[in-house]
Amino acid sequence: MLSIQWSALTGWGTPRIHPYRPLSLEPSSTVLHYAPTLFEGMKAYRNGTDRVSLFRPDMNMKRMNKSASRAALPTFNGGALVELIKKLVALDAHWIPKEPNHSLYIRPTLIGTTPFLGVAPSRDALLFVIMSPVGPYFKNGFKPVSLLATTKYVRAFPGGTGAYKLGSNYAGGLVPQAAAAKEGFDQILWLYNKDGEDYVTEVGAMNLLIVLKRKDGATELITPPLGDMILAGVTRDSIISLAQDHASGKLNIPGLPNDLIVTERQITMNEIADASNEGRLLEVFGAGTAAVVCPVERIGYKEKNITVPTGKDGLGPITKAMLGEITNRQAGIVPSEWSVEVPPFA
Ligand SMILES: Cc1ncc(COP(=O)(O)O)c(C=O)c1O
Repeated sequence: MLSIQWSALTGWGTPRIHPYRPLSLEPSSTVLHYAPTLFEGMKAYRNGTDRVSLFRPDMNMKRMNKSASRAALPTFNGGALVELIKKLVALDAHWIPKEPNHSLYIRPTLIGTTPFLGVAPSRDALLFVIMSPVGPYFKNGFKPVSLLATTKYVRAFPGGTGAYKLGSNYAGGLVPQAAAAKEGFDQILWLYNKDGEDYVTEVGAMNLLIVLKRKDGATELITPPLGDMILAGVTRDSIISLAQDHASGKLNIPGLPNDLIVTERQITMNEIADASNEGRLLEVFGAGTAAVVCPVERIGYKEKNITVPTGKDGLGPITKAMLGEITNRQAGIVPSEWSVEVPPFA
C-alpha cells in the first residue's frame, strides 16, 4: 500500500510504499466521528501480455480533489499521486490476473485523523492507496437487473454532497438497498422530487443512461446532467464522449444508430413511463468502473412495473456497443489517449 501523511502545519509528508497493514488511529480521530473520509475507485488493466495501464486516472484525481475540498480535507497534486500509483501498481503488477476482463482494483482513500472531538476541519489527514485483484462484475454473462424507483429514500439533494465521493454518502444507501432487495429488486433507482415530478438521478452506485426513440423518430441517449446530485462518473463521461463523437461523425461505432442524439438533461419517471407505454423505451443501463455497464430489465415505480427491453445476451445494442468501445480502450485493444501506461518496476 501507499501512505502519505498530511498536517496543516507541515503539509504533505514523504510518500511511502510499504506492506499492507492495519492503521493506527487515535479513537478521537475526526474520521471516526464526523466522517471526513472519501475515496476513489479505479483499475489497472493488462494490455496484451505484459503491458499494464490505467484508464483516465486524471479524472479520478480531479474528482478526489473535488471530494477533498467538499469534506474540508487537503487537496493535492493529482499528477503526482498518479505517478505514485503507477509505482505501486508496477511493484504489484504480478497481482493483476491474466484472465480476460480481470484487473487490479485501486482504492485511493483520504481520511481526517486529527485527535479532536470538536466539529471542525481536520488538521491532520492520511491519504492511502490499497489494491485488490478483481474479476468481471458479471461472472456468467450480463444479467439485467431490476430497479426500485422510490422517493422514500433520497441519495442526493441540491446543496448536499451527492456529487462527491464521500464515504458518508454510501452508509446512507445500505438500508434503502436492503429494503429494495426485500421487495424483490436488485438495486435502487434514486429519484429526486421537485415540483411534483420525480427526476431520475443515479442507480445504486452507478450513473444512469436511458435510450429512447424520440417522437420525431431519432434515437436519444440521455443521462442526467452533472450538478449537485450526480457523481461525475469516469465511465459516464467516456460513454457520452464516445457517443457524441459517433453522433458528430468523428467516430463510427458499429451498433449505434446514425441519427443518435446524445443529451445530458433532466428526465422524469413520467417521461420514462410514457415512452415505455408508447413502445419508445429502448434501453436503460447503469455505468461505472466496477461493471462498466449494467443493463436494466425492469423498473418498479408506484406499484407498477416498467419493462425495459434487453437484447438476447442481456445487453441492448447501444449498451453492448458502449461496453465494447470502453473495454477495448481499457485493455489496449483500441489505442486511446485515455489509456495511461504503467512503466515496469525498475
Ligand atoms: C454514486 C456513484 N455514481 C457513479 C459511479 C460511477 O463512477 P465511475 O464511472 O467513475 O466508476 C460511482 C462509482 O464510482 C458511484 O459511487
